[in-house]
Amino acid sequence: MSNRVYIFDTTLRDGEQSPGVSLNINEKLQIARQLTRLGVDIIEAGFPITSPGDFAAVQAVAREVRGVTVAGLARANFKDIDSAWEALRDAEQARIHTFIATSDIHLKYKLRKDRDQVVEAAVAAVKHAKKYTSDVEFSAEDASRSDVDYLARVFGEVIKAGATVINIPDTVGYAMPEEFALFIKQVMERTPGIEKVIVSVHCHDDLGLAVANSLAAVGAGARQVEGTINGIGERAGNAALEEVVMGLYTRKDRYGLTTGFNTREIYRTSRLVSSLTGMPVQPNKAVVGKNAFAHESGIHQDGVLKERTTYEIMNPEMVGIAASNLVLGKHSGRHAFRDRLAELGYNLTDDELNLAFARFKSLADKKKEITDEDLQAIVDDEIRHI
Ligand code: KIV
Ligand code: ZN
Repeated sequence: MSNRVYIFDTTLRDGEQSPGVSLNINEKLQIARQLTRLGVDIIEAGFPITSPGDFAAVQAVAREVRGVTVAGLARANFKDIDSAWEALRDAEQARIHTFIATSDIHLKYKLRKDRDQVVEAAVAAVKHAKKYTSDVEFSAEDASRSDVDYLARVFGEVIKAGATVINIPDTVGYAMPEEFALFIKQVMERTPGIEKVIVSVHCHDDLGLAVANSLAAVGAGARQVEGTINGIGERAGNAALEEVVMGLYTRKDRYGLTTGFNTREIYRTSRLVSSLTGMPVQPNKAVVGKNAFAHESGIHQDGVLKERTTYEIMNPEMVGIAASNLVLGKHSGRHAFRDRLAELGYNLTDDELNLAFARFKSLADKKKEITDEDLQAIVDDEIRHI
């Protein structure tokens, strides 16, 4: 089994399904260019049948970006697939991504089809897509709540029909990591022809487990992970790709797997997606949040100043953040305080430092974060002029 994990970015499709988010063509193009610099393998640029705007955006991305596969989503019917191909046809490498649900709950209430009818629709869709491009991905929507033997039957049939990637979505974010890993293993063991295709996962974050489930699936043999930048997406969002990739990178000792990501572009990409979608990144968000490399407590600051790896498992520069940040607050210690004053150009005597540190601590009891201006005021107004 290959040790390369393919990264499928769906920021422009599932990410854009975040309530309140709508990207115009120009914004989609800006994000697509940045995703190319980031080194994703596949950009899902949209769902062309859904609107003329989405069609035009997929077409624009397909015509412009190079060195990356461009995918368009299509339900398992000919009209959607024809529209997806029309939008994708000028891409350097085009992928049609077609899907149909496989769980009994979706079959009964949404599709009103029986299991045989779904197999038939899936096979027909893949065969139709195959007339346009050799690269066809098939997704079994709500796979994680589907019967494993039925899912294996559907996948076996679509592989025979020519699918090159089979995707196992946890559409409603219901799976638990160990259970999902076992499920992936069982699907792989029971699907005829599985060795000919790439197994993919697509996890949603309804229970906050999208990244954990994606990593568990990779551990079980999946070699494509789908997700979005900053984890945006339908409802609670998708797996945050920057977290998946940094998980694989930081724990290479455990997984032994690589991606094509240029991790130094992560932070820039996160900022761009946040500003164009209008979705702020929470301060404590892993990898890209404002506090991800900030240390407030004195014990932690002292450790980081002595040796960064005492409290940092990733180097901020690896994700494109200039340096870790020691935040001065009431838990901070003398070591970080003295270093920050030195950075600001103040070299105080021991007595001055003692006095300034006491003033700093009493100010920190009243104010959550002490800024450089506060420090300057402490030293200039209160220490040097007494
Ligand atoms: O969540 C999901 O199941 C999807 C599919 C279309 C892949 O987004
Ligand atoms: Zn999804």
